[in-house]
Amino acid sequence: MQRGKFLTIEGTEGVGKSTNLTFVRDWLVARGIEVIVTREPGGTPLAEEVRSLLLSKRDEPVDETAELLLVFAARAQHLTQLIKPALARGAWVLSDRFTDATYAYQGGGRGLSKATINQLEQLVQGDLRPDLTLILDIDVELGLNRARQRGELDRFESETIGFFERVRAAYRQRAESSPLRYALVDAGKTLPEVQAEIDSLLSKLLA
Ligand SMILES: Nc1ncnc2c1ncn2[C@@H]1O[C@H](COP(=O)(O)OP(=O)(O)O)[C@@H](O)[C@H]1O
Ligand SMILES: [Mg+2]
Repeated sequence: MQRGKFLTIEGTEGVGKSTNLTFVRDWLVARGIEVIVTREPGGTPLAEEVRSLLLSKRDEPVDETAELLLVFAARAQHLTQLIKPALARGAWVLSDRFTDATYAYQGGGRGLSKATINQLEQLVQGDLRPDLTLILDIDVELGLNRARQRGELDRFESETIGFFERVRAAYRQRAESSPLRYALVDAGKTLPEVQAEIDSLLSKLLA
């Protein structure tokens, strides 16, 4: 049995991750591929509980290393319970965020070192990495305006513009550093334009 492919979608708030996740899922399903759709933090009952801990606003300041460890604790559970078994039986896994988000938010946004994140990545994932990561890229304010229309903001969405500028820069840097693993998509375009680009990326991946 051939291992399934692991695809992730990344980007700052309101960039269109969830919208395009559905597009990618439908695209793959239409070609007869079994797809498991999931998200981070989360993806299993325990990991979803950790997600709630991470996203809820609280009076107590959250230590950056505590945040980082919670992210990777949820990821370890997600990998063991859901991602690895699905890939092993040949299903494709499509995740709304994964470890690139840790490099972008806890690294770029919070300023934790890449070396520290890399150590945890090795510990939790071994050599498992996504086969393709779509990084949706947009002007930070434009994305936040889209996100705000969804209603109340969570602990991350309530961060400053400066924080999101750093997150965006970290994502762009990752895309530039490994052009084969990443596709940087201009998400400021109309949805049909964005999806035409994703369509051609998926066609290439499948070819
Ligand atoms: N290319 C686009 N142009 C205009 N609006 C978009 C585009 N992509 C997504 N949207 C809208 O922006 C909002 C946020 O999209 P969403 O997929 O929830 O973003 P994310 O999951 O990245 O936070 C939604 O209302 C969605 O319909
Ligand atoms: Mg979303």
